[in-house]
Amino acid sequence: METNSIAIDGPAGAGKSTLSRRVARRFGLIYVDTGALYRCVGLFALRNNVASRDEIGVARLLPDIRVEMKYDSEGIQRMLLCSEDVTEAIRLPEASVYASDVSAMPAVRDYLLSTQREMADKYDVIMDGRDIGTVILPSAGLKVFLTADPEIRARRRYLELLNRGIKTSFEDVFSEMISRDKNDSERAAAPLRVADDAIMLDTTALSFDDSFFALCELISGRFSL
Ligand code: DC
Repeated sequence: METNSIAIDGPAGAGKSTLSRRVARRFGLIYVDTGALYRCVGLFALRNNVASRDEIGVARLLPDIRVEMKYDSEGIQRMLLCSEDVTEAIRLPEASVYASDVSAMPAVRDYLLSTQREMADKYDVIMDGRDIGTVILPSAGLKVFLTADPEIRARRRYLELLNRGIKTSFEDVFSEMISRDKNDSERAAAPLRVADDAIMLDTTALSFDDSFFALCELISGRFSL
């Protein structure tokens, strides 16, 4: 049976989180950023000096990891890692690389599966990630695959990091994004791919507002929210 949930998948920097957050506010949905969960596991491994591709080492850490998702009074998702608020720390570039590496591990994906499904059971969600439409919420009422040219995505991500006061260069952001795209698409476990019943939305030539309106139209056409 189809649900009222919305699944947004796509590569890094496609605008998934910014758009989903705004859509959530517009339609009264709960926005779930699932990448933040993988980032928490990645950060934990980084802090414990476990190499990002050490599958056995990371699996050994899992029983000690406590990841919680909280929403502040403005509806912003905050991430708690063993009670510490790591919402900002997980955005650092090294945490991105770690997140992508640990997300290729089936043990990590299994570990985070129930948290994601529970959110969708409890609330009408707009959930973004890489495998939401294909694995996590196969019955989502609307699936959108959001994409844009790699250079545009890197440019947007670079500006976002600058706005957050994180110093980096466009070249570094671009090459990190290309390698993460490759990682996320070529892994065996739940790789990034377009669900058969997903609608493709390419935002390369669209402004943020235009992307938002395009997404809202898809939602209004599908649900009576
Ligand atoms: O969306 P993001 O860039 O914050 O995600 C960080 C990493 O987590 C990304 O490189 C791939 C992984 N990820 C995933 O494998 N599955 C998801 N549903 C969300 C993120």
